[in-house]
Amino acid sequence: MGTRVYDEVDVSSIAFWSLPPEERDGSFAVLRRERPISWHRPAEGGLVPQYHVDPGYWAVVLHEDVVAVSKNPQTFCSGRGVMFEDIPEEIAESASSFLILDAPRHVKLRRLVASAFTTRQVARIEERIRVHARSIVSELAPLGECDLVERVSERLPVLTLSDMMGVSAADHDLVARAANDMVGWNDPELVGDRLPIELTYQALLTLLGVALNMAEERRSRPGDDLMTALVQAEVEGDRLTDEEIGAFFVLLSVAGNDTTRHTISHGIRLFTLHPDQRRLLMEDFGNRIDGAIDEILRWSTPVMTFRRTATRDVELRGQAISEGEKVVLFYSSANRDDRVFDDPSGFDILRHPNPHVGFGGGGPHFCLGFSLARAELRAIFDEILHRVPDIRAGEPEYLGGNFMNGIKRLPATFTPARAWG
Ligand code: HEM
Repeated sequence: MGTRVYDEVDVSSIAFWSLPPEERDGSFAVLRRERPISWHRPAEGGLVPQYHVDPGYWAVVLHEDVVAVSKNPQTFCSGRGVMFEDIPEEIAESASSFLILDAPRHVKLRRLVASAFTTRQVARIEERIRVHARSIVSELAPLGECDLVERVSERLPVLTLSDMMGVSAADHDLVARAANDMVGWNDPELVGDRLPIELTYQALLTLLGVALNMAEERRSRPGDDLMTALVQAEVEGDRLTDEEIGAFFVLLSVAGNDTTRHTISHGIRLFTLHPDQRRLLMEDFGNRIDGAIDEILRWSTPVMTFRRTATRDVELRGQAISEGEKVVLFYSSANRDDRVFDDPSGFDILRHPNPHVGFGGGGPHFCLGFSLARAELRAIFDEILHRVPDIRAGEPEYLGGNFMNGIKRLPATFTPARAWG
């Protein structure tokens, strides 16, 4: 393991992850074609420089392999970390909840909240999501121009999650900003003159503070929300600890906010770049929107990577992988795999089938919030594209880093509407 040579295609540098996403795929295309399982030096710009000696990681770039690893948690576990970089244990534990657990504890903790995220439950709150989407677009429509992220994309996810969790309106902005900072340690603008870990730690403390205040309140005054369910839940006869409740809250806030936010921005940008696809959608919105959402997720892949660790010596596509080595799943590459997708860089809302891995490659950690995200995306695209029909997005400013394909700012222009209901 010590003498292994790093691949000449560099997907570990900050410079690489600062390129526009479209340009990065050239490197992954080489790996897909020539070395689908390749060994790389550790990612630059980790949360804690020199946190420990990190030998590197295996890059998994083909769709079939991303799915195979995702569906084999016994061999490729989540319990030893799911990010490219090593994250100090205390932060990982208080921020990740069941995301970084393996069976059987993963199953038990995930089950506690899973019932709130089923397609049936989401259908129950869909009207509420629509009300939020309508009012966001009512405020947007008269403006004529705006930063779409600030006005639209970041608003709907925080309102939706806050409804579900029971976060008070006074804390909405605080939670949205902290959730954003939690995944921004690779972005120089967000980090500013702090250390990356300071940004993450501050955001974590903010989210934990909100969670613990809410938990205390719900213990004395139960409500009809997820926080009440968490303070009342029992696992193997025990109530959840404050630490466990806090970690649940941080996981749901981070997983549910930025992902959906960036998908909204990517969607509006893609409809600007592909007016033919937008026309196609508007001709039969009701029947085509679900396919369009899948294609936006495939094309943009808002969550680009997650990691597993080999629990034993194993061979993957003929490559020997040793116990304890990191295996990084590149969803963004799998979603451009021409063995699975015709014309993978094209944007085609009628693509069928569309087995993208935007919500993960299947297996026990598959995105818990996929129905909720779809409901939010359907509602917001419906409102924007019908009520602000000539909206055009300008050049996006991307978030740096190897985790999220995020858009920090997206200028948008449109004919202002005078009075919207
Ligand atoms: C378009 C929006 C979204 C995208 C692209 C997305 C993507 C993902 C991905 C790639 C994973 C990892 C899957 C794996 O490891 O196999 C994941 C996990 C997860 N997602 Fe989402 N997600 C989105 C929205 C949401 C929402 C709205 C929520 C609700 C709170 C949510 C909650 C979660 C949770 C809790 C997990 C961890 C599941 C586990 O470890 O068992 N996600 N998501």
